[in-house]
Amino acid sequence: MGNNGTVWLPEGASTIAADIDWLFYFVYWTSALIMLLVVGGMVYLAYKYRRRDASDAPRPVKESKLLEISWVVIPTILVLLVFTWGFQSYLKMNVAPPNAYEIQATAFSWGWSFDYPNGASAGNELHVPVDRPVKINMSSEDVLHSFFIPAFRVKQDVLPDRYSSVWFEANQEGEYHLFCSEYCGTQHSEMVATVFVKSQSDFNAWLDEASAGEDLPLPELGERLYTQQSCNQCHSIDGSQKVGPSFQGIYDQERPLASGEAVVADDNYLRESIIEPNAKIAEGYPAAMPSYARLSEREINALVAFIKEQ
Ligand code: CUA
Repeated sequence: MGNNGTVWLPEGASTIAADIDWLFYFVYWTSALIMLLVVGGMVYLAYKYRRRDASDAPRPVKESKLLEISWVVIPTILVLLVFTWGFQSYLKMNVAPPNAYEIQATAFSWGWSFDYPNGASAGNELHVPVDRPVKINMSSEDVLHSFFIPAFRVKQDVLPDRYSSVWFEANQEGEYHLFCSEYCGTQHSEMVATVFVKSQSDFNAWLDEASAGEDLPLPELGERLYTQQSCNQCHSIDGSQKVGPSFQGIYDQERPLASGEAVVADDNYLRESIIEPNAKIAEGYPAAMPSYARLSEREINALVAFIKEQ
């Protein structure tokens, strides 16, 4: 068990997956067996002892000590077994090995960004080395989110103003889904990221490449940030409608605001909308954007340069 998906569980690609699956199947098949015994017994006895004519009267039932003890003892043993087993797995899942590779995850409405020890960062893409414990330290910029990688069998809430963490060791290279599993607003269902499990050398190569943002020209850096920071979740560049206005052709155009006024989408307006999104709300759109004040000066300039070109 563990590697390939079944009707009940997706494929398992972490060291903890087999533990979780065995426990799940134990509970599942035990419950199925007990249900079969209870329902089957009930149907059989109802048929066997059905009333055959109006004068039928049942004989008094004698109690059976053995039977009564057995339906107290057997379920107690089963419950204790599941508890001990589950608690052991729980401990394993919650205490990260001390040599774990640490990645910082930030959740926001509606996307993920990941920061690596060497300064690399990526949005909605989590790159991890295979066969190595990885610990994700998480926080949220706004509301409750939840970090869920079904193939790794890990799930952990991500909270504002407080860190939480989760660890796993992926044991199979490939691509896996990462979902937000806490309803967090309009685009909750699209708060999806991809986990890339790579060999250590591929991972190192990716790390080097991802951290080399320093010397990129501004529009190119902006283009990278547009996906990294999940701007693309809410703003298209082809004019299509999403939660926020499309970037296509907005630069230097007059834009109507919810207040009834209008503003020219110049550099300063774009900048203000990144840092303080609620200062001027575009007409017809919700005030749903979080602040991106955490971006560096150069990153903000890069995004403005990118938007200008659309
Ligand atoms: Cu974030 Cu649901």
